[in-house]
Amino acid sequence: MTESLNQSLLNLALDIAKTTSDLLVNKRPENMSYESKSTPVDLVTEMDKKAEEHIVQRVQAVRPNDSFLGEEGTAKPVSNPSNVRWIIDPIDGTVNYFYNHPYWAISIGIEVDGEIQVGVVAAPLLHEVYYAVKNEGAYLEHDGKKSKLKTNSGAKLDKALVATGFGYDPERRKKQGAALAEMVALARDTRRAGAAAIDLCYVAAGRLDAYYEFGLYPWDFAAGSLIVTEAGGRVGGLNGEKLGGDWSLAANADLFDVLNFEVSRLKDKYFN
Ligand code: IPD
Repeated sequence: MTESLNQSLLNLALDIAKTTSDLLVNKRPENMSYESKSTPVDLVTEMDKKAEEHIVQRVQAVRPNDSFLGEEGTAKPVSNPSNVRWIIDPIDGTVNYFYNHPYWAISIGIEVDGEIQVGVVAAPLLHEVYYAVKNEGAYLEHDGKKSKLKTNSGAKLDKALVATGFGYDPERRKKQGAALAEMVALARDTRRAGAAAIDLCYVAAGRLDAYYEFGLYPWDFAAGSLIVTEAGGRVGGLNGEKLGGDWSLAANADLFDVLNFEVSRLKDKYFN
């Protein structure tokens, strides 16, 4: 039997996530060079760039006509493009990586004909690889043991563990902080761990009930959003919008509308 396109893309992405993990863990320099991006606190390290180059080179070695959207700028024009696009964040949680805090991941989402079909999120220092193929479920491999992912259930925000994140612009952070001050009083508790891709995988794994953030980019959520929906959860923008706008929401399916209601209220109060 021939392997389906999605399955062969998954296998390639898993293998690339593994060699990129090895690079980021074993070649992590003691004195890492870095530059600022959008603001002084928004970092790009030499390893973000090396990891993105590594991923792109590995894909191009076997699939030269695929396109890319990479956090560190890879968007190479391809003369005869295939219908496959790789949306990659070589290090999601760069600040954590820089501090050697283990909550960071390599995030690889793969679109076929404009729709995400495969998602891989590898968190090497957590010894975890999350992955999903459209309509085939979501899985976690932890130290070689594989388990199927399923979100939690329950629609009550005061029984929910809710994560969020902050962008790098101080003015935006003030608004995000003000909104979070209300959310922390409404939810069972809140978390801000510093890597959106892992936060999404944690929703899929039932380690969080919900996640929301203002201002994510496609590479932050491409892989994780498929992993959430394949685990039975819901993702979207605010008020019926698709992911990809200003807001990103993910939750177990029971809780999604409640989360949307509260985040929409907080948006009107703090973000207008
Ligand atoms: C960031 C992380 C963080 C989120 C930020 C993202 P980066 O990604 O996912 O948790 O709050 O909005 O930009 O910059 O580390 O790839």
